Amino acid sequence: MNIAILGTGMVGATIGTKMIQLGHKVRMGSRSAGNEKALEWVKAAGADASQGTFADAAAFGELAFNCTSGMGSLEALGQAGAANLKGKILIDVSNPLDFSKGMPPTLNPCNTDSLGERIQKAFPEAKVVKALNTMNALLMVNPAQLAGGDHSAFMCGNDAEAKAKVQDLLKQGFGWKDVVDLGDITAARGQEMILPIWLRLWGGLKTPNFNFKIVR
Ligand SMILES: NC(=O)c1ccc[n+]([C@@H]2O[C@H](COP(=O)([O-])OP(=O)(O)OC[C@H]3O[C@@H](n4cnc5c(N)ncnc54)[C@H](OP(=O)(O)O)[C@@H]3O)[C@@H](O)[C@H]2O)c1
Repeated sequence: MNIAILGTGMVGATIGTKMIQLGHKVRMGSRSAGNEKALEWVKAAGADASQGTFADAAAFGELAFNCTSGMGSLEALGQAGAANLKGKILIDVSNPLDFSKGMPPTLNPCNTDSLGERIQKAFPEAKVVKALNTMNALLMVNPAQLAGGDHSAFMCGNDAEAKAKVQDLLKQGFGWKDVVDLGDITAARGQEMILPIWLRLWGGLKTPNFNFKIVR
């Protein structure tokens, strides 16, 4: 399958590499073709990796991951183009972290709205599934490195079929054992509001290698 990775940071590179290991062809998108990080990633990831603009990647992918900075996600997806995202699953890994007032970042939007919802509203013909935004990038694609994978990932979205496909990718592809479906895209509020506690834990535990486990 052809996959679009929108974003050249650690998340995009990590998920992109994993998708190639799973046998897919992956194009990484950026604000400009020939982005230095994208070129480095392509060199390391091999023949099934390519790069281009956000629009190039979105047109190429049958499924897309939004791995852009939260404050730039709507702009990035606008550059990707609604027509290129139409009818496709868009896995939204972003967090609306606003660093403009210094550290720690605040969430914007928050509480009565979320970035996941804003993305779904702005791109009504894309099937947005919010997932994997609540753990470190390396853990996203390799949960087993921590406690044998005995911890939880969350997801939400409006399209049941899209969520079933994402659930399958997370479980069969990435190795997640516990994927909790939180319901429609408004649950992105809660998923994103995990970030303030996540950031505190990161500071306190002095490692990003931890996750939440839902015990029933
Ligand atoms: N790092 C983690 O472990 C982690 C874990 C969970 C969730 N997340 C979330 O995942 C997302 C990606 O994180 P990251 O650390 O990999 O990368 P990042 O540095 O947050 O984002 C990099 C990407 O955002 C794009 N971007 C930045 N500002 C933009 C703007 N104004 N308009 C359009 N595009 C813009 C950049 O475009 P260019 O390529 O053109 O520079 C680049 O592709 C973030 O939303 C983050 O909160 C990260």
